[in-house]
Amino acid sequence: MRPLRLRREQTCQGPLVLIDRAHPLQEGAPPELVPVDRLHPQVLLERRAARLLAACIRSVEGGRAIVPVSGWRSRAEQQAIWDDTRAREGDAFTRQYVALPGCSEHQTGLAIDLGEDVPDLDFIRPSFPDSGACGAFRRAAARYGFLQRYCREKEALTGIAAEPWHFRYVGAPHAQLMEEHGLCLEEYVPFLEVSPRLCRLGSGRTARVSRLPCPSAVLELEPPAGYWQLSGDNCGGFILTVWEGEP
Ligand code: DAL
Ligand code: ZN
Repeated sequence: MRPLRLRREQTCQGPLVLIDRAHPLQEGAPPELVPVDRLHPQVLLERRAARLLAACIRSVEGGRAIVPVSGWRSRAEQQAIWDDTRAREGDAFTRQYVALPGCSEHQTGLAIDLGEDVPDLDFIRPSFPDSGACGAFRRAAARYGFLQRYCREKEALTGIAAEPWHFRYVGAPHAQLMEEHGLCLEEYVPFLEVSPRLCRLGSGRTARVSRLPCPSAVLELEPPAGYWQLSGDNCGGFILTVWEGEP
């Protein structure tokens, strides 16, 4: 079989890209965006993330109680939110709760802010409690590939204050591994650099996750047997996931 040829610029594409102040988004082809549901046609997400978000909300019967507040944002929208929040709330608050334009996960289409269905939901800090359907969503999220991206105990690493409402799609094996090991996305590449990791999935299959550094312009790789996925990590490498066992 012909080897896969991965180009270094592809390390900044895919569902596992780390986006933060030190790892800005590399502008490229926009993701394929779809509305999260029929009631909120203005809230867009990358197609697969949207499908799994809907499945997770359905699994906790949260269709009425959980409101999508903000999904994909263009760079211009992120800039407008940054400018508006700075004018209203000041610089310190803005740096805590709004990512710098060019450094927001919302620009990837892989992040969603969720709120509980209450009047006058705040756009920047929507309420998303640990009780009821919202709490059930948080507990189910990793099985559908989402993680709560900004936690209090990781503030020094993420550079963002705790945001119980902001979820990031990464895919089930990765969200489950990060949850099991108590990691935020900034810690995931160093964790995989130590050794490949195995994740037992609810389906009974196992996913083997490994990191492939890409030090030169092209990385050649034998295609793995079976079902696999590659994503850039936006840290100069790729993350390879191989599903083992029968589907
Ligand atoms: N609220 C998050 C950090 C963002 O603006 O992307
Ligand atoms: Zn958000």
